[in-house]
Amino acid sequence: MQELGQNPGQIRGRVLSVASEAVPLIKTGGLADVVGALPGALARVGWDMRVLLPAYRSLRSKLDAMDEVWFESGLFGGDARVFAGDVAGMQVLLLDAPHLYDREGGPYTGPGGDWFDNARRFAALSWVAAQIARTGLGDWKPDILHAHDWQAGFAPAYLAYGGALGVRSVLTIHNIAFQGWAPAQALTDLRLPFEQFYPGALEYYGGLSSLKAGLVTADRITTVSPNYAAELMRPEFGMGLQGVIAQRADVVSGILNGVDTAVWSPEAEPIPYSARALKGKAANRAALCAEFGLEVPGPLAILVSRLTDQKGIDLLEATIPDFIAGGGGLAVLGSGDPALEAAVRRLEARFPGRVSVRIGYDEALSHRLFAGGDAVLVPSRFEPCGLTQMYGLAYGTVPVVSAVGGLADTVIHASPAALTAGVATGIVFHPVDAVAFGHALRGLLHLYAHKSQWAQVQKNAMKQPVGWEASAAAYAELYEGLRA
Ligand code: ADP
Ligand code: GLC
Repeated sequence: MQELGQNPGQIRGRVLSVASEAVPLIKTGGLADVVGALPGALARVGWDMRVLLPAYRSLRSKLDAMDEVWFESGLFGGDARVFAGDVAGMQVLLLDAPHLYDREGGPYTGPGGDWFDNARRFAALSWVAAQIARTGLGDWKPDILHAHDWQAGFAPAYLAYGGALGVRSVLTIHNIAFQGWAPAQALTDLRLPFEQFYPGALEYYGGLSSLKAGLVTADRITTVSPNYAAELMRPEFGMGLQGVIAQRADVVSGILNGVDTAVWSPEAEPIPYSARALKGKAANRAALCAEFGLEVPGPLAILVSRLTDQKGIDLLEATIPDFIAGGGGLAVLGSGDPALEAAVRRLEARFPGRVSVRIGYDEALSHRLFAGGDAVLVPSRFEPCGLTQMYGLAYGTVPVVSAVGGLADTVIHASPAALTAGVATGIVFHPVDAVAFGHALRGLLHLYAHKSQWAQVQKNAMKQPVGWEASAAAYAELYEGLRA
């Protein structure tokens, strides 16, 4: 295999990261942003990270330019190969197992919903991750196996049950709502040891959960904000796994995500602006209003999101009419649950010129929304970290967020005291219901009307660091501690 790394003298350690998505290769949500950003952020603090992903159909064209570095015959029903190479500046390992991944559709779903064999598909990914962690690839031998979410949950388990050979494991929870459930009968098929099927180990409500398997076997557990780490130990947020996580509290920590500030910078937009020169934001707003057919006397709120229950989208219909009456407007970019798509469409039909909706996924358009919007709405019912409130901070697009998970960790509410102290960066509401959200939107109208306070909040927001530096240092410290 070719030597893929940097000068080994400068490397503090090596990490095999395993996940189902990574920007720029494949993305359905923030998981991909984070998995794709970590290698670069960690390289800057001396950690050499390679990312193992499935070679989905859309990625198979990359294989030609990569080197075959690993082969296993009969991996959960077919032959599998791993290819290594540099893809868009990231050292990537693609697991090519056509019987599992060469299909038309998304990473988790096909035309008829979830793939019937998802448990196997991601068990295979995890199995290979554990094998590579143990044996290394040529002279590249990882110190740490870092698994992300349920798709990689079995990786620490395979490593622990098969003998870790000095490799330590980390499991990061990006979203506890997805737990990788499989029936108990799948145990043997998934190459899991029968004697580990008991409540303290693999058994989960009579079946199996890849996420639980990872939680009970990983050396360290992290999640993507300190607040979510604490929430996960409570029944309202733990979604059945709160006890398992609480039992391992001594190895659980929260490390906030960062955002790629080279990509998410108002100074890098076509109409650039900065905290010092906020005028450019007005030009972006005018362009956005023209593009969306909006005329909004008060604050223009934006929402860029998966349209799902998690995101509190159902609160909009009860609250936006009053916000419109108060002078506000709303531009939405999102897709997801058809009922929620219909709900935002109804608002658009009811308030032409004040509410405008684009159903779909569009990265470039999302930049124009952040650059042109006055405020970004994130009324999530739960939010492990959340990235869009951080884009909002960077763009002076004041975040209006529920006080959950990483939202509570990243936004400082514009209370009278915080305004006086000059530290407010947004509006935070609790509990997550239409009454509190409606109140927050009235607060937004009010704050926007006080121009000097508004400009101060925008500037405070833009000054808040949202890059990867602090998080990368925290991961490096975690890895370092594990090796010691
Ligand atoms: P989650 O991963 O739960 O969806 P995050 O806030 O962590 O939430 O990450 C969502 C990511 O996906 C962000 O980068 C956001 O900008 C992006 N995103 C979501 N919906 C869209 C869309 N319709 N168009 C463009 N980007 C989107
Ligand atoms: C999940 C969470 C989101 C988080 C992202 C990246 O998709 O829903 O809050 O920001 O993972 O960690």
